[in-house]
Amino acid sequence: MARNTIFAPGDSLTTVVTPPRVLADAHGRVARDLRMSLTDRCNLRCSYCMPADGLAWLPTPEVLTDAEIVRLLGVAVGLLGVRKIRFTGGEPLLRRGLAGIIAGARALRTDEGLPPELSLTTNGIGLDRRISELAAAGLGRVNISLDSLDPARYAALARRDRLDEVLAGLAAADAAGLHPVKVNTVVMRGVNESDVVPLAEFSLQHGYRLRFIEQMPLGPRHGWDRASMVPAAEILAQLRTHFELTPAPGRGSAPAEEWLVAAGDCHPAGTVGVIASVTGPFCAACDRTRVTADGQLRTCLFSHTETDLRTPLRAGADDDELAELWVGAHQQKAAGHGIGRAGFRPPERTMSAIGG
Ligand code: 5AD
Ligand code: SF4
Repeated sequence: MARNTIFAPGDSLTTVVTPPRVLADAHGRVARDLRMSLTDRCNLRCSYCMPADGLAWLPTPEVLTDAEIVRLLGVAVGLLGVRKIRFTGGEPLLRRGLAGIIAGARALRTDEGLPPELSLTTNGIGLDRRISELAAAGLGRVNISLDSLDPARYAALARRDRLDEVLAGLAAADAAGLHPVKVNTVVMRGVNESDVVPLAEFSLQHGYRLRFIEQMPLGPRHGWDRASMVPAAEILAQLRTHFELTPAPGRGSAPAEEWLVAAGDCHPAGTVGVIASVTGPFCAACDRTRVTADGQLRTCLFSHTETDLRTPLRAGADDDELAELWVGAHQQKAAGHGIGRAGFRPPERTMSAIGG
């Protein structure tokens, strides 16, 4: 805690203890987990995320430089109580300075005096070539997106025939010891429902922690409807036809609902997660804050307002001023996303431009 010494007229020396600044909101939550998007670009075109011909990418001058990113990370970790940083995209491996950014983040110290936990959400392409450099820089973990193990289906839904490279990335993360290696799968009706059991089996065999995610309205315009979203209950029912599941103890703020899977004939025991972002929102326990690649602070994936950090940063604001802007934005953080409620509008940016 900071100690400010105040001299009041006629008073003896008084010491006032000021509580540390945190990203607290009006709903009793404190954000300690920062999602930092490093680029809006991607080398895949997953149908739930992007239109087939991509999007209008952010102009380079609008994208934060490596030094600007590390500066904002320093404000979040050093002044605002952030303890975890997840680098996202678009595809964060497309960022040339990634290892340098990770090293910069690793040198920071949280309010507990520790380096922040650093992880990466990636599609895995090219990870095998970068992993040792990233791990040496201080990367702790990776989440790899994988929606099918069938090459043709993967190519259809990512609109690129690159499954082999993703699998190489997964194996490399495992070999580099970045455990637990997590796998994210978005389940889409009529597209990859038949991949649920094979993906779970594959992940158990390799010791990866698979989490199925309900599709959220974050992709191309009009690309989502409730009927094509496969609800968590349905994913679980499908898993139960092949696996014996029992709830894993303790949930905390982690969005994945974890299940213990008993060992089977062709797989050891393990866990599988189902993230019910739509049917079982975990907004009440949300501890996230987000910054887009162009330096806009978002308190929620589904925010309709953003707080511009880039303009004051480039205009010479000091760390305290940036921290105050960040704190002020979180005081306005909405209670929840309201998907399914009358009047719900998806955010203006798609997932790739927000950062997953
Ligand atoms: N709904 C749910 N998850 C999504 N992701 C991307 N778009 C969506 C969506 N519309 C996930 C990807 C990846 C992470 C970045 O976010 O699968 O794992
Ligand atoms: Fe790229 Fe991820 Fe979007 Fe797929 S979901 S297009 S991998 S940013």
